[in-house]
Amino acid sequence: MNGAPHHKVRLAIFASGTGTNAQKIIDYFRAHPTIQVALIVCNKAGAGVLSIASREGIPHILIDKEKFFRGNAYVDELKGSGIDFIVLAGFLWKIPDGLIKAFPRKIVNIHPALLPKFGGKGMYGNFVHEAVIKAGEKVSGITIHYVDEHYDNGDTIFQVRCAVLQSDTPDSLAQRIHLLEHAHYPAIIEDLLKSRA
Ligand code: GRF
Repeated sequence: MNGAPHHKVRLAIFASGTGTNAQKIIDYFRAHPTIQVALIVCNKAGAGVLSIASREGIPHILIDKEKFFRGNAYVDELKGSGIDFIVLAGFLWKIPDGLIKAFPRKIVNIHPALLPKFGGKGMYGNFVHEAVIKAGEKVSGITIHYVDEHYDNGDTIFQVRCAVLQSDTPDSLAQRIHLLEHAHYPAIIEDLLKSRA
């Protein structure tokens, strides 16, 4: 580089809940030379991820359902804040087509099972782990994938497995899966962005 100022890749994290993955991603990129978490987008007032945003001094948008699904899907706001890439981390609403078209292959999601199994509408949180245990699966894991117009359907970027134990409850399996998510999601995002740079 010739010393000219250069723009970091600006990530928006979309989350609806506690935001433990969001926190790991923020931590990972806090001092990163080329990538930064620039915005938190949330659909739920009072969600833990909003406290994380304010503690970290990261701007946030609390989205309005009507505007998200029947308005501009916040495309202007995202473009206006210079967002380059969108990371879904426990975001429970479907992403509108307009937003997908505005960020083609620039939206990724993490799912707490091995897609294409145990995905689709209603398959989130402990519903996933309940279904995995009920089906008698011996392995589960995580899937990081691109987001397209259908729930849990875009191309897979990364998967990693873990055992499902005889003694597992949805909560104990969820804990094991969460650790995998935290260990892998930030680095996979980094690899993906580096490989595109
Ligand atoms: C994660 O398990 C993720 O796979 C799913 O939602 C959960 C979010 O958890 N899509 P957290 O809010 O990051 O703790």
